[in-house]
Amino acid sequence: MSENHKKIPAWKADFPIKKREAAYVSRKEFIKLITFFSGTLAFANVAVPVFNFFRKEKEIKPYFIGLTTDLQVGGMRTFYINEDHRNPYMLIRLAEDTWKVFEQKCTHLSCSVLYNHNEQLIECPCHHGFFNPDDGSVIQGPPPRPLPQLKVVIKEDKIYVTDFEKETEESHG
Ligand code: FES
Repeated sequence: MSENHKKIPAWKADFPIKKREAAYVSRKEFIKLITFFSGTLAFANVAVPVFNFFRKEKEIKPYFIGLTTDLQVGGMRTFYINEDHRNPYMLIRLAEDTWKVFEQKCTHLSCSVLYNHNEQLIECPCHHGFFNPDDGSVIQGPPPRPLPQLKVVIKEDKIYVTDFEKETEESHG
């Protein structure tokens, strides 16, 4: 065995790859790579809006959330639907026969909002965002969108929530 051969580790002898050649990217390969990434971005730019257009908003089947006797006028209580703890909701009793349900996550940065009956406002303590408790619309502050609202259905003394209110529909609260 020659002196030179002894110095080369066995793994290098088995895989004789030259570093410079391995790191070399030809112009053709580079253009292929750029084309691939541009194509992927262009596809995503079209696919995401199309997907969102055809996606149906998830329907919520009537979900029992409590009895009318459980909450005084001016009161608020939070709940989850189907144990989904990522989406807290708030039930508000605005008046004797007026009930509202909104998502409790602020549309700005997802802080928990609270109902203030004295001020007749839904408040976000994080950046002083204020929402209208009648329809969830933004009154003041940085929130960019109204609070998503669920329909409330009262049957006898039982309170149920169903699917999302459309922004143009009248509230059932
Ligand atoms: S998170 Fe509610 S106003 Fe910023």
